[in-house]
Amino acid sequence: MVLAGCSDSGREERRRAAGPGASFAALMRVADAEAGAAAFGQCGACHTVRRGGGDRNGPNLFGVVGSPIAGNSPRFGYTAALQDVGGDWTRERMDAWLTNPQRFAPGTSMRFPGVADPLVRADIIAYLATQK
Ligand code: HEC
Repeated sequence: MVLAGCSDSGREERRRAAGPGASFAALMRVADAEAGAAAFGQCGACHTVRRGGGDRNGPNLFGVVGSPIAGNSPRFGYTAALQDVGGDWTRERMDAWLTNPQRFAPGTSMRFPGVADPLVRADIIAYLATQK
């Protein structure tokens, strides 16, 4: 659904399609992995996402959607804060994490304020889900 030459990746049109106050599920239906790949630029200083990519300040994220929380990159030194969350990275939990990492896992070492726009978060999650 990316509109050629449209600098916001068709986001306003997709936002209208999802409707006002759209649920996370509705946003995921209009999410665009290509737009998410571009938005992932703000994560790329700390994360690689390709298969076999190394850890940087943060762990490699290949295959992270659906994988155990604090378990995607076995070599990485995760905080107890993130390890104590438990369970797997569902799309919904990824959305909560990317909204505000410190609220999701108080004390996490991910020094990132979060992504305010729900549709940008959905785009990033759609992109991560393709990297598996
Ligand atoms: C300033 C560096 C930094 C930035 C920017 C950053 N992260 Fe992280 N990220 C980290 C660190 C450090 C951790 C490990 C957190 C811990 O152990 O508490 C982490 C952990 C994660 C995890 C958990 C992986 C696992 O194995 O459970 C995910 C998912 C993640 N980041 C996604 C993102 C996304 C998506 C973005 C961009 C929207 C982003 N991060 C931006 C540093 C960063």
